[in-house]
Amino acid sequence: MNTTQHTLVVGLQFGDEGKGKIIDSLVDDFDAVVRFNGGANAGHTIYYKGQKIALHQIPSGVLNKHVLNIISHGLLLNLSLLVEEMNGLDAFSIKLTSKNFCISPLCTLVMPWHIAMDRATSGTQIGTTVKGIGPASADRINRRGIRLIDLFAEDFEKRFMDEGVIQNNILKVFGGDTLDLKKEYTLLVKSFEQIRGYVLDVYDLLNSLTKNNKRILFEAAQGMMLDVFNGTYPYVTSSVCDPSSVTQGTGYVFPLKKIGVLKPYLTVVGAREVPTEIFSTTADIIREKGNEYGATTGRPRRIGWIDIPMLRYVLQHGIDEFALMKLDVLTNIDEIQVCTAYWDVHIDEEIRYTPGYNDGLKHITKVYESFPAWKEDISGMSKFEDLPKNAKAFIKGIERYLDKKISYISTGVNKEDLIVR
Ligand code: IMP
Repeated sequence: MNTTQHTLVVGLQFGDEGKGKIIDSLVDDFDAVVRFNGGANAGHTIYYKGQKIALHQIPSGVLNKHVLNIISHGLLLNLSLLVEEMNGLDAFSIKLTSKNFCISPLCTLVMPWHIAMDRATSGTQIGTTVKGIGPASADRINRRGIRLIDLFAEDFEKRFMDEGVIQNNILKVFGGDTLDLKKEYTLLVKSFEQIRGYVLDVYDLLNSLTKNNKRILFEAAQGMMLDVFNGTYPYVTSSVCDPSSVTQGTGYVFPLKKIGVLKPYLTVVGAREVPTEIFSTTADIIREKGNEYGATTGRPRRIGWIDIPMLRYVLQHGIDEFALMKLDVLTNIDEIQVCTAYWDVHIDEEIRYTPGYNDGLKHITKVYESFPAWKEDISGMSKFEDLPKNAKAFIKGIERYLDKKISYISTGVNKEDLIVR
């Protein structure tokens, strides 16, 4: 197998970097797109004939007719939201069939009690998306998760009720709302009936696609700073978000080309330390221009300057190419700041890498370099040479700090608004 037969698109910050658009832009060269981690907490935005589509569980290859869209076992699957998402695509005349969409029977399901528990517990402290990801993940690891394959069993109703009684008792302890199990069972089975025709042995499928020299694009959810092991713990999601998540979420160690996606500023939803957070009106300008509101929850995103120590930290996981998104959002900003390092005042020394946990980011002194912005409209540009002088200088500055070339630069929401170098 050619070592770059398959490609991974992975977020390098706190999610919402623009992975959906990069997938949509690259997908013509691929035969399949796979979602393999995270769950409905993800929100991947693509544009179809100028209209915005927010995808949560369905892979971002759906606009391309020749592409097979696959959900592998790593994704925590919410059946009722999946049905809603599929129905939502009807409005754009995008038809999913068993020929272009399939789901692994080994996906662990996010059950209604997981969402109730998320609401009753961590939802309030961490600021989760309340999609039940933490509790569902805990049950998966604790070996009490219900998987899609279980719904095919004749005694599934008993399994559901037995588990539901236990979960209702746990919910009572945490002061959560208990569930009407009969009603929830009926709803779950109704959703299951609508998707059962898409269930396929994805493990076997990935193997045969690879053997037949088909090219697969792996679409990671969230961003590497939200990784449960390496991110700003405990203010993280409950999944692995780094390149190793492909192995966990598919069962294969594929040789991959890894494309890291980043924005020229930071956005964050939920509680955590954000050393470069902007508190001036510049944050509001970036938020509005970049439409920086949660694709899943609608929450306004917190805005910060690009944080090089954070990027250097995640790059240790190995990234081959970079995609810098939303450059156009910074047009007309007075002055762009780049946090180039942190400074440890106790030992009077530069810190080049973000400490890998939330508390390590408290009381950090930042070192910034400022770059003059550009006034010229760059929307839709597709050639690097056409960018204004200051935009080029800004990109070259980031490349210098990261010691890497940026291969893709996005200059607008449409698939075509992309510079490829
Ligand atoms: P959970 O994944 O819903 O449990 O949320 C845990 C943390 O991850 C919260 O701070 C969320 O805001 C954040 N998070 C989860 N998914 C995303 C995403 O797709 N984009 C941005 N933040 C996310």
